[in-house]
Amino acid sequence: MSGRIICVAQQKGGAGKTTLVTNLATAYLAEGKSVVLLDTDPQGSLGKWLDIREETVGENEKLQFSTSTAYGISRALRGVGGEADVILIDTPPKADSDVRWVLRESDLVLVPIAASQADVWATHDILDLADRAGKPTNIVLNRTRAGTRVGEHVAKSVSELVAKPLQSSLANRVVYAEALGRGLGAMEAKKTGSASEEVRALASEVSAILKL
Ligand SMILES: Nc1ncnc2c1ncn2[C@@H]1O[C@H](COP(=O)(O)OP(=O)(O)O)[C@@H](O)[C@H]1O
Ligand SMILES: [Mg+2]
Repeated sequence: MSGRIICVAQQKGGAGKTTLVTNLATAYLAEGKSVVLLDTDPQGSLGKWLDIREETVGENEKLQFSTSTAYGISRALRGVGGEADVILIDTPPKADSDVRWVLRESDLVLVPIAASQADVWATHDILDLADRAGKPTNIVLNRTRAGTRVGEHVAKSVSELVAKPLQSSLANRVVYAEALGRGLGAMEAKKTGSASEEVRALASEVSAILKL
């Protein structure tokens, strides 16, 4: 397998795992890269996103999808990972020991933290597991609200975590929720504007880390 494998994990539900996966996927597709999505979350949000996407924009041979259990990830990667440039793995809202099977296969672990203290608290287990797996790990600040107290407070707690936040972050914007429900990335839902810019910046920062 030649592609780079990114695992998006965070035990707190609603932190933005699926949002991060769908936005990175659509950003890389827009660059002409081939992308595989692997969903290990039994809630199946990623598959629903793709169903809606295929109804509206049609199928794209550069975007492949499969579900897998955490344990079955290595087999799933052999099956569908193939020649893809990027493989994005979405994970369930728990950080049980099963996730280690996914971490083992990953080149980079991204941990979204939505701007709340509860998200920061929920992050220690996954950071610990990623550390034990010896995998490069970065926090991605999500739903940021510039100039708010809670934003400053969370930023300070995040700076005390063992994993560093990426420079790029995603602000709290309606377009992210809208795009997710329409089977799109924010860059596709609104081609110009701040969301597009921040997704592009995030995708290129991740590309640089992985030498994509
Ligand atoms: N940056 C953001 N701005 C606005 N809404 C967001 C943002 N990130 C996520 N959301 C919304 O929050 C909810 C949870 O996000 P989701 O990506 O499904 O989280 P997870 O996969 O971690 O459970 C969704 O409705 C999503 O559209
Ligand atoms: Mg999800």
